[in-house]
Amino acid sequence: QRVQFEMWDSDEPVPRLELLKKVKGCDGILCVLTEKIDAQLLEAAGPNLKVVSTMSVGFDHLSLDELKKRGIRVGYTPDVLTDCVAELTVALLLATSRRLIEATHEAKTGGWGTWRTLWLCGHELANSTVGILGLGRIGVAIAERLKPFKVKKFIYTDVAPRPELANMIEAEYVSFDELAKQSDFLAVCCALTQETHGICNWNLFSKMKKNAIFINTSRGGVVNQEDLYEALSTGLIAGAGLDVTTPEPLPTHHPLFTLKNCVILPHIASASYTTRNAMSALAANNLLAGLRGEPMPKELKL
Ligand code: GLV
Repeated sequence: QRVQFEMWDSDEPVPRLELLKKVKGCDGILCVLTEKIDAQLLEAAGPNLKVVSTMSVGFDHLSLDELKKRGIRVGYTPDVLTDCVAELTVALLLATSRRLIEATHEAKTGGWGTWRTLWLCGHELANSTVGILGLGRIGVAIAERLKPFKVKKFIYTDVAPRPELANMIEAEYVSFDELAKQSDFLAVCCALTQETHGICNWNLFSKMKKNAIFINTSRGGVVNQEDLYEALSTGLIAGAGLDVTTPEPLPTHHPLFTLKNCVILPHIASASYTTRNAMSALAANNLLAGLRGEPMPKELKL
């Protein structure tokens, strides 16, 4: 059976008003994470809408209650991006802990003098404790990649212990406070929900070690950025690497950009050609399966 579709053929997000107009009467929507799929949009689409397929593993841009209420099925793209996101997380962690951005800047701009004993010293992974906030597929994949760097111990916290995943990386379940206290490197891998909104705040940073490196490749909303700025600028923690911020894009005048110990990337964790192709194919297949009333390759259970 043929599907008629209309495509927003641009890398820029579709303007909201345009989207509200174009979704009218649609049976399905394939979106990316810049589109808010909320009550207003679902009303605009009308009663034909059966399926929303997002080309993302994150789904905080979807109002799940509103979708559920209307019996609309949801597809998303877990698994196909796990390797790519884990790889970028390790790259960001090393760039932050070994001060790579600062170092290339110094080399290029004349700051490179004679070899100096303590110049541009950072923190190494060998013998360290790595903490994971929210242990899922991505957290496991990050730990698997970090293990060969001779990490001493992996610890994690989550709403409850996740033994099947934790056993794969021999990670110990600890409380949120212990995670803060023990981690030399803390990687945030949880989804953004009401419960996780802003949980990386002063309460967390003030318990962390002075040498700790904080890494976030999940969603900007889990971090209180004012508190992070305070923690970084006062030396409460050693550094932060962020692939996600609030808002996105982060305005170029944002105080976090002034800090040498904060490495900010423009939300590129899943940005490899292979992964983005796999994500778009999966999102399309989810959509088609949903339209046919068949099981989706990756359906989000509402
Ligand atoms: C990217 O952030 C995603 O959710 O896929």
